[in-house]
Amino acid sequence: MSEILRINGGKPLEGEVRVSGSKNAALGILAAALLADSPCTIENLPDVSDIRSMLGMMEELGAKITFKDNTAVIDPTDLTGCSPSPEPASKMRASYYLVPVLLRKLGKAHVHLPGGCNIGERAIDETLRGWRALGATIEVKDGFIIGSVENELHGANVVLGCPSVGATINTMLLAAGAKGRTTISNAAKEPHIVDVAIFLSAMGARIKGAGTDEIRINGIDEFVGRTHPVIPDQIETGTLMIAAAATKGDVLIRGAIPVHMEALTLKLMEIGIFVESMDDMIRVVGSQPYRGTVMKTQVYPGYPTDLQQPFVSFLTTAPGESTVTEEIFENRFAYVKELEKMGASIDVRGTGKQGDRQTAYIHPVKKLTGARVEVPDLRAGAALIVAGLMAEGTTDIGHTEFIHRGYECIDKKLRDLGADVHWAEE
Ligand code: EPU
Repeated sequence: MSEILRINGGKPLEGEVRVSGSKNAALGILAAALLADSPCTIENLPDVSDIRSMLGMMEELGAKITFKDNTAVIDPTDLTGCSPSPEPASKMRASYYLVPVLLRKLGKAHVHLPGGCNIGERAIDETLRGWRALGATIEVKDGFIIGSVENELHGANVVLGCPSVGATINTMLLAAGAKGRTTISNAAKEPHIVDVAIFLSAMGARIKGAGTDEIRINGIDEFVGRTHPVIPDQIETGTLMIAAAATKGDVLIRGAIPVHMEALTLKLMEIGIFVESMDDMIRVVGSQPYRGTVMKTQVYPGYPTDLQQPFVSFLTTAPGESTVTEEIFENRFAYVKELEKMGASIDVRGTGKQGDRQTAYIHPVKKLTGARVEVPDLRAGAALIVAGLMAEGTTDIGHTEFIHRGYECIDKKLRDLGADVHWAEE
């Protein structure tokens, strides 16, 4: 028996929905909590499997944790282990955020190389360079990151070769407790980087410039445990916005940060969708005619790669040709062949190698039809959910473990908006 998500499509989404906390911000914040010398309370954590895996690894290292009602209380005062189990570490991307906090706290770390979705090469050389510049000895051997601090962690000027989210968070986590001043140039600017910096600052860290491409950090000796609410999930917000538009619905998304959604908002408005941004709410109405578009994914504040997939689903029926180029990851169109099973007509061209990025050429079809499809990666899960909601008939989505990694109670949220969506066994 395996689980599927069954969607009987064709119903417009209508009503109000509250967005969960940001998975990617939470993963950095949870690791940062281990730096504290007293307990931390992290609120608005999404209850998804990546968060539970991270909390499990932190418990293995000696942190005492309770997790209930989207709040984790973390007591990191007796951290003793430096080697979380390889299995969960190798399955998710953010497991390597544990390395800098272990180096700071215990002077050593032995963590499996990060895994995560198979969407491209996903190099980590910028992270390794950042840690080494700050005085850590780092070796990558037999699939593990083996780190130690021989002398002392010290500030440095770190110029990232690309504005990597992971390298920015990893360098910031180590620099926050390293002696002296660190500058991270060409830093990533995504909202979750700012949220990690806000939490570190609340614990006492001295960080300026997070959210710009130069972050300046003066290392401190003691981190005080604090309470921090995680920001709303930009990707879940965007997925719900796209789903509202794609089903010709009318949805009010509560608890969002509209400024984080500007690239998607502008794109939706450009193609004819009504979007109204309020203080912490976004309303999307999809009943008017809309058209195809040309777009490419970019680093923040550009159009996010994590919202490329559900947008392509939406564009499959948009009048006029659309082209979508993936600029961040080499291989993030694996779900296109699943959309084709539902009647979509899309050519993906390009090898995905540097200088030959992949572009999806979307030839509009009148409608999508329900089919049996498989999720190849996390955000592809959102693409297939949006497609299932748009389609005529029943869509059965397999490999639901990807959906559980990043979307909390997505079935219930969609049902509350009038969709016919439920988990089933087959
Ligand atoms: N890159 C390098 N060298 C490096 C680091 C990155 O060439 O040293 C390249 C990567 O190969 C990739 C690109 O730069 O092509 C972006 O990588 P980045 O390091 O910025 O991404 P990440 O930290 O691995 C995070 C999110 C991703 C999100 C990206 C881009 C987390 C846990 N993951 O990944 O989220 O797509 O930033 O915004 O925060 C997801 O949630 O589904 C997801 C994949």
